[in-house]
Amino acid sequence: MQTVSAIAHPNIAFIKYWGNRYPVLRLPANGSISMNLGGLFTRTQVCFNSGLDRDILVLNWRPESGRAFQRVSQHLDRIRRMAGIQEYAEVISDNNFPMGAGIASSASAFASLTLAASVAAGLNLDERQLSRLARLGSGSACRSIPEGFVEWLAGESDMDSYAHSIAPARHWALVDCIAILSQEHKSIGSTEGHELAETSPLQAARLAQIPAHLEQCRRAVVERDFDRLARVVELDSNLMHAVIMTSSPPVIYWQPATLTVMEMVRGWRSQGIPACYTIDAGPNVHVICEAWAADEVEERLRDIPGVSQVLRASVGGAAYLEQGGGSR
Ligand code: DP6
Repeated sequence: MQTVSAIAHPNIAFIKYWGNRYPVLRLPANGSISMNLGGLFTRTQVCFNSGLDRDILVLNWRPESGRAFQRVSQHLDRIRRMAGIQEYAEVISDNNFPMGAGIASSASAFASLTLAASVAAGLNLDERQLSRLARLGSGSACRSIPEGFVEWLAGESDMDSYAHSIAPARHWALVDCIAILSQEHKSIGSTEGHELAETSPLQAARLAQIPAHLEQCRRAVVERDFDRLARVVELDSNLMHAVIMTSSPPVIYWQPATLTVMEMVRGWRSQGIPACYTIDAGPNVHVICEAWAADEVEERLRDIPGVSQVLRASVGGAAYLEQGGGSR
């Protein structure tokens, strides 16, 4: 019984995935573009063992049996079916970033699980197959398989909905300064949020703009054009939150300090600091900036009332296997 260990980074979307055309296969309503977050990671170890009578999941040092366990076990079922094996598995997964920090861990969790479990099951999948498989566990996880700046092609079917790298990590020295706000309140998760997307009268308008926004974002990344990137990233984040706020029932992820940070960042940019904001399904603000401005941005964020912590991430690489998982 071989234990296989894999690492994957979370990612922050520049153009967001919001809504599914076909939820069972997580075929998204639109394509999306993201940057992997280097320095932050999930490590997942998997060992299939004929002595087990069920799967076991230990998440951040705690045995899990609830919703997270169900999702992981269903993902292992997919991999067992592909590999033609029956053994249950022990899965040990932990993040090096704080859980309460509101950074979506499902992307790095399912990307690392997909890589470790597929190898442990004896499969030898290429990057595209890994990305497609990770997508079935969590949509955004497909973007944590390839390296650097990544585009998820929405596709028409399970076969052609996968992510690929549009530029390597070293292409552009960007930094994500994540402003963590003090009051973390429980809200609706992204899986539920995707289901609400089409109840918003604004989702159709958002989707109509997506091809142009993807094109602008891709071009901004390839040409390292920060102004172009900033405009499209902020617009896309605002559009997603407009959809979220006008869904039925409506959801508001922002807190008062979220808006304060957004306004400050726009002000800094008008002073010549290359920084822009983007917000996922929570109150925290991801401030993307050029690396040379990151110290200044971090310092300014720390001074904003309501910001309790600032985490920093550079551009991250692809998901990878760790050597020496060993046998036991
Ligand atoms: C707002 O990938 O977490 O972060 O497929 O249900 O696991 P599931 O959803 P998930 O959704 C991510 C939503 C987002 C935007 C994005 O990352 O593109």
